[in-house]
Amino acid sequence: MYTQALDLPDNAAAKAAAPASHEAGPMARFEACIDADGRIEPQDWMPEAYRKTLVRQISQHAHSEIIGMQPEGNWISRAPSLKRKAILIAKVQDEGGHGLYLYSAAETLGTSRDQMLDGLHTGRAKYSSIFNYPTLNWADVGVIGWLVDGAAIMNQIPLCRCSYGPYARAMIRICKEESFHQRQGYEALLTMMQGTPAQRALVQDAVNRWWWPVLAMFGPPDADSLHSGQSMRWGIKRISNDDLRQRFVDATVPQAKVLGVSLPDPDLTWNEERQHHDYGAIDWDEFWSTVNGNGPCNRERLATRVKAHNDGQWVRDAALAHAEKQQRRAMKEAA
Ligand SMILES: [Fe+2]
Ligand SMILES: [Fe+2]
Repeated sequence: MYTQALDLPDNAAAKAAAPASHEAGPMARFEACIDADGRIEPQDWMPEAYRKTLVRQISQHAHSEIIGMQPEGNWISRAPSLKRKAILIAKVQDEGGHGLYLYSAAETLGTSRDQMLDGLHTGRAKYSSIFNYPTLNWADVGVIGWLVDGAAIMNQIPLCRCSYGPYARAMIRICKEESFHQRQGYEALLTMMQGTPAQRALVQDAVNRWWWPVLAMFGPPDADSLHSGQSMRWGIKRISNDDLRQRFVDATVPQAKVLGVSLPDPDLTWNEERQHHDYGAIDWDEFWSTVNGNGPCNRERLATRVKAHNDGQWVRDAALAHAEKQQRRAMKEAA
């Protein structure tokens, strides 16, 4: 449940540091709260651009969780054992839950669930480009856990300190679950790598296909990133796209070594001077083409989502009819 109407105690100091209402306008109080690393809550005044940025980011994030259920959901009926099936069902269900927390967080900013879903279903709203790639073999499920959830954790840990309270609190719980997702993926791959040459080849093939789209998940380079500067100033974004990408590469290289797979980048080398790995150029044309609807699975993903929504209409109708009946009964008893 959300504590959207409450100021959390650790926020009191930052709010107290802000000038009192008779001394300064709402903008000055907002800025002072941000500068003091406080949290903005739904009932607080906020600039319209801050609200819009958050609605865009949180709803895109929610859509990504919901669409992200599809590539792995495709493998639930084909999981190689009961144990793997149970893990995968739990993981895909978690992603659905993440979408719901995030829609709730966005609703505290005054946008409705219907508006957000309409944006997704009509193709106006974006979601993470990574979910427009296909899952061709069982190793893809492991690689999604290891690399896609791994990249998501790298992106999302700093969001636990986001200046907007409901988003930050949703991210704390989400990150705990993402950590299980990453581990289950890596463990599934370790098992396959101890198997037959054919199983090892499946893992390597999946890593080759997912590596570059995963690096693109962190978004365009800082120099071309449209919203980054303002989001950093507002405490929505804490670490830049390029810095997050670098951290991810540095963390993943040793994991690939333990696993026994190679990463498909001939330019990937340790740079002693920078104390980081250098890596090759990302194909941004492919990234933008996928974001703009022309990736391998964009149409399929959207069509599946719209069909699921339409197929669920009777559930929404029944829930509304039940709620109305309950309300009528309560009013009758009160009369
Ligand atoms: Fe998730
Ligand atoms: Fe996840």
